[in-house]
Amino acid sequence: MVSFMEIPRHLAIIMDGNGRWAEKRMLPRIAGHREGAKSVRRVVEECRRLGIGFLTLFAFSTENWGRPQGEVDGLMRLLVQFLREEAPQMAAKGIHFHVIGAKERLPEGARQEIAATVAKTANCHEMVLTLALSYGGRDEITRAARCLAMDVKEGRLGVQDIDEDTFSSCLDTADLPDPDLLIRTGGEKRISNFLLWQLAYSEMVFSDVTWPDFGKQELLSALEEFSRRKRRFGLVRPEPEKSLFAGGR
Ligand code: FPP
Repeated sequence: MVSFMEIPRHLAIIMDGNGRWAEKRMLPRIAGHREGAKSVRRVVEECRRLGIGFLTLFAFSTENWGRPQGEVDGLMRLLVQFLREEAPQMAAKGIHFHVIGAKERLPEGARQEIAATVAKTANCHEMVLTLALSYGGRDEITRAARCLAMDVKEGRLGVQDIDEDTFSSCLDTADLPDPDLLIRTGGEKRISNFLLWQLAYSEMVFSDVTWPDFGKQELLSALEEFSRRKRRFGLVRPEPEKSLFAGGR
């Protein structure tokens, strides 16, 4: 137990293990996703209570389009249902809703619900909840490179002006700080094309608990682990100051 808990400004989560949760119970995979949506509600509520400023959840990757059509359709329906049910709560709790990823690939119904939720929560400032939908880190970086190339081609930007800041400003996450902490549930230890640029100096905590079973206790234990980490960002940690009276009395 740490004596104080350091709260990350930006927490990102790879919500993994819904399918295995369902298979273990001889249920269809979509039942795991449904249960996973309940975890999303719990974790969003807890993060809001803890004062986490930015929460980003990996809900659907560019690779997930390759899953069986029934599962993809089920996930899209779940997303629409989730937004319909949660948007009033988000607005009431000051949660600003945001999406990153190739939104144009999402079905029309999902895009409409996203737009409605973004509009409903536009004046909320307590927390930013970002869903990564149809999101892939490589895809995001490729789109940013294309956008910069167009700016150069059309004379809005000089090649010498391309630096980390201009590059970051072309990413979907332009308005978000980099994550301080990444949590991945479900036992795998990889980042699976999530926030490739932004995770450069993030701390990572891997939990064996599958996402539907991930609750308040598991979140607090990940935050405790984060509190114990010493972040150096590639620098040298300053020596603890020597007492002026060392060796004195
Ligand atoms: C990974 O588990 C999870 C997903 C691909 C989808 C995440 C979706 C949810 C948490 C529920 C819906 C979310 C919202 C916001 C409504 P997996 O299916 O890859 O699990 P497995 O590795 O055990 O097969």
